[in-house]
Amino acid sequence: MMEIDPTRVPRHVAVIMDGNGRWAEQRGLPRLQGHRIGKESVRAVVETSRRLGIRYLSLYAFSTENWQRPPREVDGLMALLRRYLATELGKMMKHQIRLLAVGSLRRLPPAVRGALRATIAATRRNTGMTVVLAVSYGGREEIARAARALARRVGRGELDPERITAGTLAKHLGTHGIPDPDLLIRTSGEMRLSNFFLWQLAYTEMYVTDTLWPDFRERDYLQALAFFQQRQRRFGRTSAQVERLRAAN
Ligand code: FPP
Repeated sequence: MMEIDPTRVPRHVAVIMDGNGRWAEQRGLPRLQGHRIGKESVRAVVETSRRLGIRYLSLYAFSTENWQRPPREVDGLMALLRRYLATELGKMMKHQIRLLAVGSLRRLPPAVRGALRATIAATRRNTGMTVVLAVSYGGREEIARAARALARRVGRGELDPERITAGTLAKHLGTHGIPDPDLLIRTSGEMRLSNFFLWQLAYTEMYVTDTLWPDFRERDYLQALAFFQQRQRRFGRTSAQVERLRAAN
């Protein structure tokens, strides 16, 4: 087993769960079968995160671009998401997991939106860990929405445009109040952000693995966390400055 220092786990892990379709195609199975098995990987990563004391876990489940997939795959994914919420609620309560969602939830089928709202409401007082589901999510859309909200406030005379800082904008994102991710994991080898958390990932360490999402389980996750623990995060400072800061703490 990989050695993980429990005192230095990332506070927030974000995951781009890629490769379900390829996993299925490689086996001559329908793409949806890849998503179904991918659901088991979601379960493994949620459970391991909770056990290790990770405070926030964000999962990119469905992008704004994913609406363009064949209707059958979109419907299948929506059904999977709805069933997942229903079957996992008991476990979320037991393990004190709070669910949040970011994205254009208005575009979701009413049954999925309803299930999502109900799960968010039922888990809102849980304090063990927060799982953020990015559904119907696009980073640029999220930033544009924040810009519109700021413009409205300026228009109403509530906000001086000269006083808008990065912090002001961040308060209008779906992730308001959630610390930026410390670690981003992307499966299936692609070196892209694919419109995920464009604002929030500014200083995030990135870990890309060739493993396809349905094959990504606890062992792979621990490997990603071990990689994170080997990184020295500098936030634009020099190594010497970081060492001095560390010594002072
Ligand atoms: C990317 O694989 C994955 C998705 C678009 C959906 C992710 C959904 C799940 C893991 C299952 C349900 C989720 C939850 C939270 C219960 P892809 O289809 O883009 O794969 P490809 O790049 O090989 O085509």
